[in-house]
Amino acid sequence: MTSLSQPDPLLWHDWHVVGRMADLPPETVQAVQLLGVDLVLWRGSDGGVQVWGDRCPHRSVRFSAGRVRQQALVCAYHGMAFGQDGRCLNVPVHPGYEPPSQACAQVYEVKERYGLIYACLGNPSAPPPPFPEWDDVAYRTYSTGPYHIRANGLRAVENFLDVGHFPYLHSGILGDVAKPQISDYDVTLDADGVRARDIRVWQPNPLGTGAGAYVTYEYWAMRPLSAYFRKTNPTGDCLTFLLNVTPIDETQCIAWFSGAMNYGVDLPLTDITAFQNRIVAQDLENLEAHNPQALPLEGGLEFHVPSDRTSLMYRKWLKQLGLTYGVYR
Ligand code: FES
Ligand code: FE
Repeated sequence: MTSLSQPDPLLWHDWHVVGRMADLPPETVQAVQLLGVDLVLWRGSDGGVQVWGDRCPHRSVRFSAGRVRQQALVCAYHGMAFGQDGRCLNVPVHPGYEPPSQACAQVYEVKERYGLIYACLGNPSAPPPPFPEWDDVAYRTYSTGPYHIRANGLRAVENFLDVGHFPYLHSGILGDVAKPQISDYDVTLDADGVRARDIRVWQPNPLGTGAGAYVTYEYWAMRPLSAYFRKTNPTGDCLTFLLNVTPIDETQCIAWFSGAMNYGVDLPLTDITAFQNRIVAQDLENLEAHNPQALPLEGGLEFHVPSDRTSLMYRKWLKQLGLTYGVYR
């Protein structure tokens, strides 16, 4: 059942994706988990999205077994309706009865961005992660996922930041075993997170012409579980992603990709999605094989090579932030 202890203040007060608008039509209910907490998402007939603790305060039955009636969530057990502010509106077995003040659902903050539903269990100090290309008319946008992964979310973000695995795990697609070298590149850490720039990666067919070429990668990890990526082809075409990783708990996560590209208007969405699914399937199998799943933030258990400098900086940043959830001790 729902745990209301704060597993990690940093993640507790951050935004996390808990669903996608397209998957939650009006008047529907969905059960999800975030940081070990059971949540219910529901959407009123006016389209407004709510994220609540999945527990009716009357007898602790899961709200997700209930149904939506107009702008209220009706509990399945005794039929009490709870309004969008979480307060109990009526007690059907006692018409006219005034519900007590504690008859109130646990209501969490929610925001919609990029077609995604972001929730925060605590008090967010900033908006959800930025992704300016999503609102840029020069870019075609799309979403892939959700990808359910039996792995630590920190490992999933670190994998996203890791170009050294392209020639092997994604051989023939994102890299080439005949040209695996990664040259030196620039990584910085500041109050906004970790940035890596000018990473040159040889890809076997980046332009769809059948010829290999170098492409340039750039990363920005702006939250512990959100990171941005930009790939620039020799033609100047750009593909960008915002990756959000939702920590279900310390060993399970969900990855959500928001993509934006300033080319390929005629590319079928099914092809784009199939490509992304293929890449993620390779990453997923690898991520689930990590042992331990917990991410070491200090040396000793794992060693690093120069091409790991982005993930090394990511670990340094998480340590500076004082993250404890999903961390190897
Ligand atoms: Fe929800 Fe009684 S348990 S109304
Ligand atoms: Fe990968």
